[in-house]
Amino acid sequence: MGDKTGICDSILEAIGNTPMVRLPRDFDPQIKCEVLLKLDYLNPGGSMKDRIALHMVRMAEKRGDLKPGGRIVECSSGNTGAGLCIVAAALGYDITIVIPDKMSSEKISALRALGADVVVTPCNVDIEDPMHYTKVAGRIAEQTPGSWWPDQYHNRDNTDAHYYSTGPEIWEQSGGKIDYFVAGAGTGGTISGIARYLKEQDPNIKIVGVDPPGSILAHYWNTGEVCESGPYAVEGVGEEEVPNAWDPKLIDEYLVVRDADSFAMARKLAATTGMFPGGSGGMNMAAVLELAKGLPEEARIVTLLPDYGKAYLSKVYSEDWLRDCGYLPQVPAATAKVSDLVHENSRARVYDDETLAWAIRQAGERGVRPLSIIARNGEALLGILDEDKAISVLSQGADLESLKAGDFVTTAPAVLKLDQPWKDAVDALANHEAVLVKMKDGGFATFSRQELMQGLKRLAH
Ligand SMILES: Cc1ncc(COP(=O)(O)O)c(C=O)c1O
Repeated sequence: MGDKTGICDSILEAIGNTPMVRLPRDFDPQIKCEVLLKLDYLNPGGSMKDRIALHMVRMAEKRGDLKPGGRIVECSSGNTGAGLCIVAAALGYDITIVIPDKMSSEKISALRALGADVVVTPCNVDIEDPMHYTKVAGRIAEQTPGSWWPDQYHNRDNTDAHYYSTGPEIWEQSGGKIDYFVAGAGTGGTISGIARYLKEQDPNIKIVGVDPPGSILAHYWNTGEVCESGPYAVEGVGEEEVPNAWDPKLIDEYLVVRDADSFAMARKLAATTGMFPGGSGGMNMAAVLELAKGLPEEARIVTLLPDYGKAYLSKVYSEDWLRDCGYLPQVPAATAKVSDLVHENSRARVYDDETLAWAIRQAGERGVRPLSIIARNGEALLGILDEDKAISVLSQGADLESLKAGDFVTTAPAVLKLDQPWKDAVDALANHEAVLVKMKDGGFATFSRQELMQGLKRLAH
């Protein structure tokens, strides 16, 4: 990486050579064997896909498929997109990324930040549908002169990137002692490239694939048949058709891990070790622990944390999202309270003697609406920000710093208590877009119909 000073001439030299970290022995008292985690989320684009982006582009240049001034067009769940954007930026190519709408908004924003034209497609369509993200990418590439579609799912260079970089790094870092390598597959490039390299060094190394339940890959590996795919939420892994970058012959065993277990494991890893993976890293680790239960102290398992947890703060790392989507236990409807439905949304404590400018920042910029206004003296709730009056002075260009929030107060909608029955929230929101909830610290949180719609999914009837 870089020259001997460690300075890289280009971001591209910072790709690869990621660290490998031993799982602390007390992570799970049931596990005796050694577990090594390759932190590929520490690549510049936040995932192991930087490696394939660079290799696929270099090979396309070599073959003449991508020429100076050309455009890269790819469909990506985000990470290959980010890797390709980095390579495109460093080498001066234009880039279009097609991404399905189930992906986190952070990932989509990152692609835009890295200079891509982003096309968002619906995720709820069949693979044969012309709006499926692979079909859209193919069409754009076909219709755009000078463009090149890496087609990571069926590109041999995807697999080779891991054969030439990740596999040798893992072999070297583990000093040639590996009993199991565990990884999930999306395109299959990671597991297949690494497996091919490791098995060439030591044919006794066992390769364990991991899959979410709705994917076809584990079923195909077990039966040779392509089954119907189903929904799952972990991003980047699992497939609905068999990708050519995946080589099932190199895999010795397949484990299936539920979304809820993948997310719980990612969170445990982050909170207790400081290693901060996305959902697929949690999935890999859940499979590792399952496998490790039966292994002796001297055994060694290696796995990969493919991407960075920071891309999933609004999903895997949001307790509200986990609850709303059913990844945490439901609450019995018979006993549920308002506290079971409210979200950890943005809150603000605005006093009557603060400026209107400050109040408008809370309501406008941070979206805290309705915004409660509290008396400095005594902490009583005076009401909520009168938005009509605030908009009126805003549109007149008034000096907001000289106006007081306390002069822009209107009657508060219903104020719920946390220990009220949840049905009171349904009644209160029948006539209001949002109401207030008095929190334990005496402050007021907003509670909207949108949150109610999400929160009601937490109840078991
Ligand atoms: C987060 C994440 N984990 C795992 C994978 C699977 O890697 P591969 O496509 O090499 O099978 C991907 C692929 O996109 C991914 O984005």
